[in-house]
Amino acid sequence: MGAIFQSLGRTVTAGIVLLIVIILLVGSVSGTWIKVDHAWSLFFMRWLHVLSGIMWIGLLWYFNFVQIPSMPKIPDEQKPAVSKVIAPTALFWFRWAALATVVTGLLLAWMSGYIGQALSLQRSHVAIGIGMWLALVMAYNVWFIIWPNQQRALGMVPAEPDVKAKSQRMAMLTSRFNTFFSIPMLFCMVAQQNGGL
Ligand code: HEM
Repeated sequence: MGAIFQSLGRTVTAGIVLLIVIILLVGSVSGTWIKVDHAWSLFFMRWLHVLSGIMWIGLLWYFNFVQIPSMPKIPDEQKPAVSKVIAPTALFWFRWAALATVVTGLLLAWMSGYIGQALSLQRSHVAIGIGMWLALVMAYNVWFIIWPNQQRALGMVPAEPDVKAKSQRMAMLTSRFNTFFSIPMLFCMVAQQNGGL
């Protein structure tokens, strides 16, 4: 067990193996097996979508609830541990998870046959439509505002000290803006299936 949990790759693989065991157990107990049809593919895409969404919004909330408020409390000589090691790794998973969430979300809407109705906010799909627009703005912010500003702020690309300071503030404010949007976005996302709106 210890050998598995000492490696992130093996841990994720073990999670997938456990999932397969659960599927086989449920199938053998109930006698009904998964049928890979359109409905199941839709469900599978929904699962991938929720996984990537959790990775994205989990890291957004980590930045806002943990990293940003902790920075002023960290002694200057220890700050590079965050800015040079932790933040670049977190940003890597953050931006790619944002892209994966957008791709799986758009595929989900397209496979469900309502992508146009949702994006044009027609009544029957207004909840998911609003959720999608909020999340699309957030994803735009990640890739085109937060990421370029963070690259300057963290010294991943060269920048003058005043530009660096401005970039840091811009990245922080945009990250706060995304946290603000994430609250109604998630409500709208789950409201479509569950009659929340
Ligand atoms: C541009 C980005 C996004 C798009 C295009 C999108 C699209 C969708 C679509 C089409 C659905 C299916 C709605 C339905 O018919 O029930 C959905 C559900 C969902 N999405 Fe998103 N989404 C996006 C971002 C996010 C984010 C950032 C999260 C954060 C975790 C998220 C979490 C969820 C959840 C939890 C569900 C509900 C699944 C269910 O109730 O079965 N989505 N999304």
